[in-house]
Order: sequence, then structure tokens, then C-alpha cells
Amino acid sequence: MFENILLEMEGALAVLTINRPDKMNAVNNATVEELDQALSAIEKNPDLRVLILTGAGDKAFVAGADIHELNLRDSVRGRIETRRRQEVYTRIEQLEIPSIAAINGWALGTGLELAMACTIRLASTNSKLGQPEVKLGIMPGAGGTQRLPRLIGMGRAMEMILTGEPVDAQRAFEMGLINKITPSEALMAEAKKLAMMLASRPKLAIQYGKEAVLRYPEGSFAQGLAHESYLHALSCGTQDKKEGISAFLEKRKPNFIGK
Ligand code: COA
Repeated sequence: MFENILLEMEGALAVLTINRPDKMNAVNNATVEELDQALSAIEKNPDLRVLILTGAGDKAFVAGADIHELNLRDSVRGRIETRRRQEVYTRIEQLEIPSIAAINGWALGTGLELAMACTIRLASTNSKLGQPEVKLGIMPGAGGTQRLPRLIGMGRAMEMILTGEPVDAQRAFEMGLINKITPSEALMAEAKKLAMMLASRPKLAIQYGKEAVLRYPEGSFAQGLAHESYLHALSCGTQDKKEGISAFLEKRKPNFIGK
């Protein structure tokens, strides 16, 4: 049914897997549309109580947006594509049921943004999380500038977004970016254990509690996302964006010129 994701629904549990392991599960535009379709199927299933989101293989949760598509992203596409991702990720965030990101390796760029849209994050010991967009001459565009400071505070979010450097699982745990670290082989079992605990709680209390907590930062959030998308679109029009992406594809260091 899907080309880029897998959706399994059994009893109370849905497991959604980003399934492009040869591309480190990089999320391309087609994957975003499939995620949206999967969310419709999830919302229509009244038996579901929890969603687990993970990446195929043992190297990556999601290593960012697909760089080949980023290469083609000018300011016009930057605006459209980031708004679409923000919309779909916000849909995950606002599901009536809670979601658990089972982070099994790299969670970069849009991957970290996807994980941050989930209700709770578990990560394997080998995980690394970051917003590396700046290294490609752009900035985050799928919620990173709004969700990261809300989770870990403005100073740490600034450091991650402006340096582009990832943090390991231990540091992510200390910062509150993830809720728990587990050995790789135990990650899915831990995620399922937590999912079953959540499923055993009263459905509506979970739904309303989640909704109330999500309201907490409301007010400027939608404006923040809109602003982020405009700025991302602007960054897609720079020469340093072309240079950053070309350098990655050519496996060389970028030479940024500040334009
Ligand atoms: N988009 C498209 N393809 C990607 C990708 C992405 N975001 N990330 C990795 N891939 C591809 C690589 O190009 C490579 O493909 P190839 O075998 O056809 O050359 C394959 O996935 C394996 O990646 P590789 O870089 O060889 O693995 P690694 O273990 O040496 O490094 C990472 C892993 C995650 C550190 C590295 O792939 C990386 O930095 N990826 C890009 C991260 C990024 O900047 N994302 C965009 C944020 S907006």
C-alpha cells in the first residue's frame, strides 16, 4: 500500500515505520504524503490507543529531509514544503492517542522534528540527535525552531540549531530531549511496554490530559511556525544553500560565502 513507510495496526497499537533504510530513512515529499494517509487510517481506527513511530534498520530513525529534494528546493518550494511538513507533523502531535518515537540511531533535521512532534521519545544508546540544517546553508523548517526550545530551553536550542552539531543519547536525556535511553535491542520492547501502560490508562483522561499539555505553549506557536517557514524559504534562496547541498553530494567540505 505504501512505498516509503510501513503501517501495522494490531489491537490497541499502531506501529509506523519510516522505511527507506538505504537512504537512512530520509523523509522525502512522498513520505510526508504517505504519513498523512497513514494518519487518516490511524484516526479512523477506534481500537487504537497508542502509536509508535520508528525507522527501519538499526542505523537511523530519520537522517533528515531527502537531500536530493532539498537540492531542488528554491524559496517557493521551501515555503510550500515546510508548511506541508509542519501540517503533517502537527497532525501527529495532535492525534487523540499518544505517540512514542522509538529513536533507533540518527534523528537529524526533519527526523528530530518528527520525533519532537511525538508525545514521548525513547532512544537507543547509539542514537544521535541534531538540527544540522545550518551545515547545508539553511535552517530548520518543520517545527524545529518552535518545538526544540519548548523541550530543552532557548539557550540549548540555540546552540543545537546554530552549530548544527548533534548530541548523543546521554546528552539528549540530560537535556530532556528524550525520556529514556535503552540498549538498541531493547528499544522496541521498551516502546511497546510503555505503549501497553498508556493503553491501560483511561482513554479520555489520556486524550484530555495530552490536549491540555499541548495547549500550554499556545498563543504564538502558529505564528512561530509561519515565521519559521518564511525564513526557511529565504534560506533556500541563498548561494550557501547551493554550496552546502553540493558539498554534501560531492562528499567534500562546504565553502560558505555568507550570501
Ligand atoms: N537524504 C538523502 N540521502 C541520504 C540522507 C539524506 N538526508 N542521509 C543519508 N543519505 C544517504 C547517503 O547519501 C548514502 O547514500 P549512498 O549510499 O547512495 O551514497 C546513504 O544514505 C548512507 O549514508 P552515509 O552518509 O553513507 O552513512 P554514514 O553512516 O556515513 O553517515 C549520516 C550517516 C546520517 C551522518 C550522514 O548520512 C548524513 O550526514 N546525512 C545527512 C544529514 C543531513 O544533513 N540531513 C538533512 C538535514 S535537513
